[in-house]
Amino acid sequence: MAVSLLRASRQRGVRAMTAAAGSAGRAALPLLLCALLAPGGAYVLDDSDGLGREFDGIGAISGGGATSRLLINYPEPYRSQILDYLFKPNFGASLHILKVEIGGDGQTTDGTEPSHMHYALDENYFRGYEWWLMKEAKMRNPNITLMGLPWSFPGWLGKHFNWPYVNVQLTAYYVMSWIVGAKRYHDLDIDYIGIWNERSFDINYIKVLRRMLNYQGLQRVKIIASDNLWEPISASMLLDPELLKVVDVVGAHYPGTHSVKDARLTGKKLWASEDFSTLNNDAGAGCWGRILNQNYVNGYMTSTIAWNLVASYYEQLPYGRSGLMTAQEPWSGHYVVESPVWVSAHTTQFTQPGWYYLKTVGHLERGGSYVALTDGLGNLTIIIETMSHKHSKCIRPLLPYFNVSHQFATFTLQGSFSEIPELQVWYTRLGKSSETFLFKQLDSLWLHDSGGSFTVELREDEVFTLTTITTGRKGSYPVPPESQPFPRVYKDDFNVEYPVFSEAPNFADQTGVFEYFINMEDHGEHRFTLRQVLNQRPITWAADAHSAISIIGDYKWSNMTIKCDVYIETPEKGGVFIAGRVNKGGILIRSARGIFFWIFANGTYKVTGDLAGWLIYAVGQVDVTVKEWYTLTLTVEGRFSSGMLNGKSLWSDIQVNFPKNGWAAIGTYSFEFAQFDNFYVDAAP
Ligand SMILES: *[C@@H]1O[C@H](CO)[C@@H](O)[C@H](O)[C@H]1NC(C)=O
Ligand SMILES: *[C@@H]1O[C@H](CO)[C@@H](O)[C@H](O)[C@H]1NC(C)=O
Ligand SMILES: *[C@@H]1O[C@H](CO)[C@@H](O)[C@H](O)[C@H]1NC(C)=O
Ligand SMILES: *[C@@H]1O[C@H](CO)[C@@H](O)[C@H](O)[C@H]1NC(C)=O
Ligand SMILES: *[C@@H]1O[C@H](CO)[C@@H](O)[C@H](O)[C@H]1NC(C)=O
Repeated sequence: MAVSLLRASRQRGVRAMTAAAGSAGRAALPLLLCALLAPGGAYVLDDSDGLGREFDGIGAISGGGATSRLLINYPEPYRSQILDYLFKPNFGASLHILKVEIGGDGQTTDGTEPSHMHYALDENYFRGYEWWLMKEAKMRNPNITLMGLPWSFPGWLGKHFNWPYVNVQLTAYYVMSWIVGAKRYHDLDIDYIGIWNERSFDINYIKVLRRMLNYQGLQRVKIIASDNLWEPISASMLLDPELLKVVDVVGAHYPGTHSVKDARLTGKKLWASEDFSTLNNDAGAGCWGRILNQNYVNGYMTSTIAWNLVASYYEQLPYGRSGLMTAQEPWSGHYVVESPVWVSAHTTQFTQPGWYYLKTVGHLERGGSYVALTDGLGNLTIIIETMSHKHSKCIRPLLPYFNVSHQFATFTLQGSFSEIPELQVWYTRLGKSSETFLFKQLDSLWLHDSGGSFTVELREDEVFTLTTITTGRKGSYPVPPESQPFPRVYKDDFNVEYPVFSEAPNFADQTGVFEYFINMEDHGEHRFTLRQVLNQRPITWAADAHSAISIIGDYKWSNMTIKCDVYIETPEKGGVFIAGRVNKGGILIRSARGIFFWIFANGTYKVTGDLAGWLIYAVGQVDVTVKEWYTLTLTVEGRFSSGMLNGKSLWSDIQVNFPKNGWAAIGTYSFEFAQFDNFYVDAAP
């Protein structure tokens, strides 16, 4: 076994060759060295016996729910920089796939996203931020694969049942309209469409959806099912030839790198259509690095899609910072390119959908794994990971113990790869910051006279990419602004004549949907407002509250004054509130505590310690009616709270011992129209 690496390395001056023999002061950089000096595992990479499965790409999810909420409000140039780190080819994560939520008005983990059809006769393809995001992604990478998937659905589709398959034609029409709207209004071609995220599928619905897409000339749109477990959909496909025919991809969530026999028997592509969901520190990057390789090695999955794309939601919401990078401060412009971005780059920058895995992939003798992919035109990309058990746990499922230790791995290129003269080398080491390297290019490897063999010294928590592709690049921008807390004094009069987005900055809807609104008849102060626009409960994905609520500000806020003009539109039963110290959101919104100040169209007010309205601090009569503007003021200071109506004290000295801190919020009593204007919060100490 001849190896040229040693010589090549010498020529190119890779540091400290002698350290390879084990001297204590090992240089921080890894070594690629002579196999003769380094016994260890031997691995052959060969295509002479054909290739493995076709690779479909690495991607991420925006939505499910509202995970990109704060991103759109970033000032330039930071917003474009963040998008470059995610989507620009040969720059950062350089993602192959963007999967978005088809907003359905319901709470879907960290917020609600607006539907393109709030009501039966409503159609609007400019709500929310997913259209914008898809266009930004496509602008950077015209080849990016686009996918859409519903989590929740607007209530009218269920005809009073909390179920999207009451009328499968209607639901298929609703989903098809989203695809048609994407093309008509944004020139976006949706490549894949899903069924219902992590919920039941309906076989008849899937068939009807396929027929409707075909009827619309959308044969190219592929169906992925069922974004849940492998078993039920695979078993159904094996029993039903028509279903088998119409489902193009079997997508499972959090598969723990394994697929099941029935899924493989379908003969379809297998995808980890949602995975990761882990705090984006180095252990999260370890999770990501391990599953990107092992989803194929163990489970034949040819695509892995991360939830979520970018952590652009208030960090204290559920699963905070579970994005490939963090951008949760539009008010400061601060963002963090977290290590999962660079772990992604190890695969994404050196492969493309349409490449093929080699059959020769597998586990390393002393832990870790390797995959190799080719474009069939002579290019080869090898990705090796040695993630330790401790530093690569994903949030789910449980990771059985395995051992990774120091090792030498000798690879031999055979078949059409035997003559490859040179491989580019990219390296990441996660873990202790002093020894951390993120996507660093090392000297390339010269394989002349080596018989196609080379040896890599591997330690724990490393990723290597060895590739013929020469376009890899670690993109960078100047350091973004420093992190700042949410401004302590904040106001919004919603006076936006031509809103680019339907939502007001920084408001994060947790039940219901709050949108910019123009009162055509009002030529005075309240012409431009923010309006809660749902008039019935959506078909929920999570436990939406009974009241609509949008949160804003800093979870750490303790003392604050919130002031807002409010307008009830529903007679008798209608009502609105403003709130402080709201301590929960996302899928936990129903149990949110705080201090809530409500007024109702029937001339009453209420002060409660929770959103559900169980913990009543005060009730009383007040001169309030429907279709009139009122100014509500809520002050919370230490253990005491007071409220004003139109600047006059209505109640005071109510003792609030819990919670001690939380967001500010506005909301409506039920799923009812109501408006808000001149929002103001002062949380200055
Ligand atoms: C898009 O794909 C085509 C065909 O595979 C390729 O030639 C082109 O370079 C790709 N463009 C980008 C920006 O990756
Ligand atoms: C590899 O891919 C590049 C484009 O990245 C292409 O120019 C080249 O012809 C391919 N084949 C080989 C053998 O490098
Ligand atoms: C892991 O493997 C190494 C080398 O084979 C061995 O020395 C070590 O004891 C193992 N650790 C555990 C916890 O099994
Ligand atoms: C006023 O309306 C609210 C909301 O519908 C209701 O909870 C409350 O009982 C009503 N109060 C009276 C006195 O009718
Ligand atoms: C909130 O106000 C109380 C009473 O004025 C004061 O004791 C406390 O220090 C304040 N808390 C903060 C975080 O400013």
